Amino acid sequence: MRVLVIHGPNLNLLGERKPDVYGTQTLAEVDARIAQVASELKLDLRSVQHNSEGAIVDELHAARGAYDAVIINPGAYTHYAYAIADAIEAIGIPVIEVHLSNIFARESFRRVSVVSAVCAGTISGFGADSYLLALRAAAR
Ligand code: DQA
Repeated sequence: MRVLVIHGPNLNLLGERKPDVYGTQTLAEVDARIAQVASELKLDLRSVQHNSEGAIVDELHAARGAYDAVIINPGAYTHYAYAIADAIEAIGIPVIEVHLSNIFARESFRRVSVVSAVCAGTISGFGADSYLLALRAAAR
């Protein structure tokens, strides 16, 4: 089973950006843990990070026929990027939304996700473990 992980904007700054909210692990460290669990689950994994909305839309389009599931943390795009929601809906692959923080316990603008309705499910609030839980969901 082929799984694509897409990290959205500003997640390249993990470890230094708001460590009280997003943790102290760098993106490379999070990706290493994701790769380890993917290998245990016998998943064929690729992980990418993009800051721009268009690059994420392109990545989702390219996933058609190439991946069986996508795990995405759209970062702040979660809250307003209808182009990403439309792309998720269009590609016809199960997409799992993840967030490091519990977006429902934060500022009011973060409590809205425009992608949740077109995703298979959402995992929010477990730090980097959110990705690992999503991998397990994808493997099923
Ligand atoms: C985030 C939550 C978003 O509100 C924020 O803009 C992020 C990270 C999370 O993983 O908790 O960049 O998606």
